[in-house]
Amino acid sequence: MTFSTDALAGRVAIITGGGSGIGFGIAKAFVAAGAKLVLASRNADRLAGAVAELQAMGGEAIAVQADVRDYESVERVVKTAVETFGGLDIMIANAAGNFVVPAAEMSPNAWKTVIDIDLNGTFYCARAAYPALKESKFGGRFIAISTTRALEGWPGCAHAGAAKAGIMSLIRTLTGEWGKDGIRCNTIAPGAIGDTEGVKRIYEDAGRKANELSSIPLGEFGKTTDIANAAVFLCSDAGAYVAGADIVVDGGRNRGRASPIVTVPGK
Ligand code: HXC
Ligand code: NAP
Repeated sequence: MTFSTDALAGRVAIITGGGSGIGFGIAKAFVAAGAKLVLASRNADRLAGAVAELQAMGGEAIAVQADVRDYESVERVVKTAVETFGGLDIMIANAAGNFVVPAAEMSPNAWKTVIDIDLNGTFYCARAAYPALKESKFGGRFIAISTTRALEGWPGCAHAGAAKAGIMSLIRTLTGEWGKDGIRCNTIAPGAIGDTEGVKRIYEDAGRKANELSSIPLGEFGKTTDIANAAVFLCSDAGAYVAGADIVVDGGRNRGRASPIVTVPGK
């Protein structure tokens, strides 16, 4: 399933971490829907490969090397987008870092590193993009990628769980403050998305893949296109009245959280 080729026509979007995984999935869907893109992350080679692929699809895309922990580098990304494409309509704060380590063994710097990338980086993206987003003629969009784990507690990932919960609170605050400027702020909460660094680190390398799969009513990991479709919806005119929401895309895993999947005898 894809959206129409003009669903995002005329829009300019920044995607942090847009060179891989879910971010690159969003980038491909955005180009297919007519948006112009700026991809931003640390690894220039990876960004160059992603941009080449987007251009081969017929898309307009550039890369800016940046570390979201450095506010000035995030400001530079926004400035480049505005100077290159004439404005900014969409900021997708997707960049993140994560690894499994029990809280009792987590070094203070390990904690700080993930909080810096995920939570501080998301605030820096919002803060730097705000002046341009409020000028968007489409109504600006700020989207952060959260996780269904954010509000459950996340054994093995205390840093990322706390950061993502902080992001959800931040988005609700920004919704209240920036609605008057026409800026729609939302989170998308993916469940486990296959063929990504996230699933590799958190489930496959940790020997938890089968356990995680068994908790998903739809019976399989999601695809990056599933998250990309939610992002296109939110950023298109169809998403104009959605603000302060957390769009869960997880195959049903998060429902209610109280009841495990049950097999009814005889069925
Ligand atoms: C314990 C670790 C560690 C590990 C790093 N550290 N990896 N501690 N176990 N596996 C500690 C280091 O020892 C150091 O602390 C501190 O963290 C910083 O490490 P650096 O390597 O210096 O950090 P840096 O080079 O800035 O790299 C950041 C990173 C790295 C987060 C550590 O993994 C990275 O760049 N990740 C980006 C890609 C990524 O994580 N993708 C997955 C996103 S998945 P000390 O005390 O030694 O100085 C996701 C959600 C998935 O976000 C949802 C479910 C599927
Ligand atoms: P990924 O491919 O590793 O994506 C993370 C991206 O962030 C990379 O492109 C990386 O690029 C960039 N990045 C990391 N640190 C950065 C920094 N300091 N500055 C700038 N960019 C940085 O992993 P993914 O699984 O697709 O995850 C993408 C997003 O989805 C994350 O927000 C993650 O928390 C969320 N999520 C994923 C899942 C899942 O199942 N995969 C589930 C829930 C939520 P560089 O290395 O080039 O910097």
